[in-house]
Amino acid sequence: MGYAVEFGAGDGRFSCYGKYARYVGYEVDAERVGQRQLPANARLMNACAFSVNEADADVCIGNPPYVRNQDLPEGWRETVGPTLKARVGVQISGLANAWQYFFFQALASTRDDGLVALIIPYEWVSRPSSKPLREYIKSKGWSVDVYRLPDSAFGRVLTTSSITVVDKAGIGRWRYFDTDEVTQEFVAAKTASLGNRKVLDYSKARSRKAVAKRGLSPGTQKVFVLTEGERVRLGLRRDRDVVPAITTLRTIDVNDASLTNEYFERNYVLAGMRCWLLRIDRDPSRELSLYLNSVPVAARNTATCNGRDVWWKFAMPESPDVLVSVGFRGQAPKCLKNEIGAKAVGGVSGIYCSSKKATNKVVAGLRSAKLKGRLVSYSTGLLKLEINQLNGLLDEILDEEN
Ligand SMILES: C[S@@+](CC[C@H](N)C(=O)[O-])C[C@H]1O[C@@H](n2cnc3c(N)ncnc32)[C@H](O)[C@@H]1O
Repeated sequence: MGYAVEFGAGDGRFSCYGKYARYVGYEVDAERVGQRQLPANARLMNACAFSVNEADADVCIGNPPYVRNQDLPEGWRETVGPTLKARVGVQISGLANAWQYFFFQALASTRDDGLVALIIPYEWVSRPSSKPLREYIKSKGWSVDVYRLPDSAFGRVLTTSSITVVDKAGIGRWRYFDTDEVTQEFVAAKTASLGNRKVLDYSKARSRKAVAKRGLSPGTQKVFVLTEGERVRLGLRRDRDVVPAITTLRTIDVNDASLTNEYFERNYVLAGMRCWLLRIDRDPSRELSLYLNSVPVAARNTATCNGRDVWWKFAMPESPDVLVSVGFRGQAPKCLKNEIGAKAVGGVSGIYCSSKKATNKVVAGLRSAKLKGRLVSYSTGLLKLEINQLNGLLDEILDEEN
C-alpha cells in the first residue's frame, strides 16, 4: 500500500484496480480527465507528464503513448529531452519513440526501492535506439522482468507488446516471460524467445569479408522498376536502358538456386515481375527520355523524387554478390547468389563479398541460419532483419571460418 503515479493516464482506469494508499495520474487530454468516476484516494491531473518532478512514488504504472519519433510534435523532443537529461543524466536517442521518454520519467519519479510497470513494445530489449535505456537500467543494477504479450493484445500497433517491470530494489537480474499458447499464462522464456544473450547483435559491419547494404529505394518502384511487358511497350532496350533488378524473393523457391540468366528469365522476366531498373547512370537514350518525360507528376510525387534536383536521377548502386530478402518467415532469410550483376532494390538487400569463397560461405550460412527466437517478430509473424543485424549475422557466419 503506497503511493502510485501514472503518466499518460487517459481516463484513469488503472486506478480502479489494485490496492494503494494514494494514486495520482497525469493526462494532457482534458477531455479524458473527468470521464470516469475514480476511487476516493485517486486523483487525475490535467497536466503534462513532464511538467512535474515526482521522485518519491512507490510505484509508477502506465501504458504510455506510442508515437514514432518522426510523428512527435515539433519542439516536443527539444523540450522534454533536456528536462529528462537533467533528471537522469542520459541523452535520449533522436530515434526514440515517445514511450521511451515516459519510461525515463517513470524511473526518475520512483523511490530508490520503487517499482516501475509499463506496457511498452517488446523490442525495447533489442533495438539500438533503446540502448541508452537498457544501459541506464543496467548501470543502476536494477532487476527487470519482461512479459511478452500475445501478438493479438494490441492489434492496432504493428509491434509486439510487453509488460515490463523494473524493480529498483532488485539485484540486476533480467528475466523474460512468454505467454503459453495453450494456457495463456506466463512461462519463463527458454529457447523460443529472445533471451538476454541470444538477441541477434547489431553490428557496424566489422567483417571486411562481407558487408550488407540496404536495397536501393529509387523513389517509387512503379516508375523505376519495370516489368518485361512495360519495357517492350516503351521500346526500352535491355542493357542500354534497363538492368536486371530484384525487388522480392517472395515468390521463388531458392533452396540451392543461383541467379543465372536462365533463372532470371524464367522467374522474373517471364513471370511478369518488376525486374528492370532504369539505367540512369549515363545519358538516357531517346526512348528512355521519352518515357521519363511522360511520367505524370502524380506518379512520382514521393519525398525521394521531390528531394532530388532532377526527380529521376538516383545514384546507381554497385551489383552485390548475394541478394537477400530482409523480411521472411521461418528460420532463415531467402538469398540468391547473384551471377548476373542484378541490383538489389527495396526489401532485397545486397551483400558485397571480398572473394568467391566468402560469397559461398555467406550463402550457405544464411540458408542454414536459425533466427526464429533471435529476432523480434512483427505481429503478422514476419521476421525482419535490420541491416546492422544482417551485418552481425555475417560476422557470425564468417567468424566460424577462423
Ligand atoms: C495509450 S494511452 C493510455 C491511457 C490509459 N492508461 C489506458 O490504458 O487506457 C496514453 C495516454 O497518454 C496521454 N499523453 C500523451 N502525451 C502526454 C503527456 N505529455 N503528458 C500526459 N499525458 C500524455 C494521451 O493523451 C493518452 O491518453
